[in-house]
Amino acid sequence: MPNIRDIVQQMPKAELHIHIEGSLEPELIFALAQRNGVALAYPSVEALRAAYAFSDLQSFLDIYYAGASVLLTEQDFYDMTAAYLARAHADQVRHAEIFFDPQTHTARGVPFASVVNGIWRACQEGPISASLIMCFLRHLPEEEAIATLEEALPYRDKLIGVGLDSSELGHPPEKFARVFERCRQLGLHLVAHAGEEGPPAYIETALDLLNVERIDHGVRCLEDGALTQRLAQEHIALTVCPLSNIKLRVFGDMGQHNLLALLDAGLVATVNSDDPAYFGGYMNANFLAVAEALPLSVQQAYRLAHNSFSASFLDAGAKQGFIDELDHYFATL
Ligand code: ADE
Ligand code: ZN
Repeated sequence: MPNIRDIVQQMPKAELHIHIEGSLEPELIFALAQRNGVALAYPSVEALRAAYAFSDLQSFLDIYYAGASVLLTEQDFYDMTAAYLARAHADQVRHAEIFFDPQTHTARGVPFASVVNGIWRACQEGPISASLIMCFLRHLPEEEAIATLEEALPYRDKLIGVGLDSSELGHPPEKFARVFERCRQLGLHLVAHAGEEGPPAYIETALDLLNVERIDHGVRCLEDGALTQRLAQEHIALTVCPLSNIKLRVFGDMGQHNLLALLDAGLVATVNSDDPAYFGGYMNANFLAVAEALPLSVQQAYRLAHNSFSASFLDAGAKQGFIDELDHYFATL
């Protein structure tokens, strides 16, 4: 039997929490800055990478939005997405549900069409299955989210769902109840970041007032026993991002991460990379960091991979196909 490190790397898996702008590596930031004549605040790739020392979510978001400023053309969005898909493929990711933040770009005068068409075209070309989740920036007013939804309507068929990201504290889910209701009526899947830095109450209001189907992060749910029970009973998946949680100081170190406690509580937890270019790695780096710091069993590794497919927004047939492949992998160990 291979060791747990080999297993987590080789097993088929899905990624359900990846901000495509967070996959922009410093090398590509510099290449795009040069291509587009954009000035950067850092003199070199090394200097930029050295700035990736974060104290909390906001300190990361400031650098993340600055990095995204080099994205101007449809080709830029295509190149960024193609690079992520190739990287995910190398980590045995079979399917990715990719977040993008149109407001970060339209606010700079980039046409909505360039953003969606570039990301979409890369997803159509493979090498893995991918679908798109458009996120609203929660630090901006709901009216701007509604205007963004209107801009997205001609591209409805290119979106599988909507999400809610950016600065969590002080921007509770209820701020976006109306726009999420409109998205629900459009038949879009609904997710939201909640319980990353924000309190368990934000997880509850994301469920009750936004009607989300998955919670992004959600690690603070364990502070509330009744909420934890509810998440387990209703099979609400949590898209947990271990390396992100360490870099943004949600947990002191990986040995203190509650991923296994979430599984033990019966929750549908998954492992994801969040912003891999900023947090130290893609899917397999996250799985490896977990396997090295926590007593992850083969059974728990299987459960995490199974959860990633079962909690995806794939249709039943596609889900079953990937789960059959997963079962075959573990049966032949
Ligand atoms: N945008 C990109 N990464 C994020 C995160 N981890 N939390 C909130 N918003 C984000
Ligand atoms: Zn995120």
